[in-house]
Amino acid sequence: MIHAAKIEWFDLVVTVNGEQIQRRIPTHLRLLDFIRDELHLTGAKEVCGEGECGACTIILDGKVVNSCLIFAAETHGSAILTIEGLRSAAGLDTIQAAFITEHAVQCGYCIPGMILSAAELLKSKTTPSRDQIRYALAGNICRCTGYQKVVDAVETAGRKP
Ligand code: FES
Ligand code: FES
Repeated sequence: MIHAAKIEWFDLVVTVNGEQIQRRIPTHLRLLDFIRDELHLTGAKEVCGEGECGACTIILDGKVVNSCLIFAAETHGSAILTIEGLRSAAGLDTIQAAFITEHAVQCGYCIPGMILSAAELLKSKTTPSRDQIRYALAGNICRCTGYQKVVDAVETAGRKP
């Protein structure tokens, strides 16, 4: 006889884009699935599902992480920023705007992760060198842009007040 696996549940409290969220979730739920399927924040994407591509990048307590590699339950009590939280009431964030003006977006699949990695870099270094930008974005793989315009965009965003 086959027995169905018993699901264990966890009462998660987490702050996402400044809003406190409480949900009962299965302990095995990945953070990426929690963000996309439970919260309907679909900016973070799944491509490789194994921590290689950076399409699922979010910011967890000020650190750039791959949300496909983390269980949602592990984030209990933490603060999460997704690409949806970067936009302010006034409109696009300066990095988002720079990606548009520098034509750094093609299919767009990698771009939320790229922008969040860039946002963390620009928090600590307002005018990073091109090598520093490349290093900070090394975990975000893009199949379309060739990276040159992405680096241009982050450089432009860094120069903005
Ligand atoms: S989907 Fe998470 S790193 Fe590729
Ligand atoms: S713009 Fe298509 S993968 Fe980066």
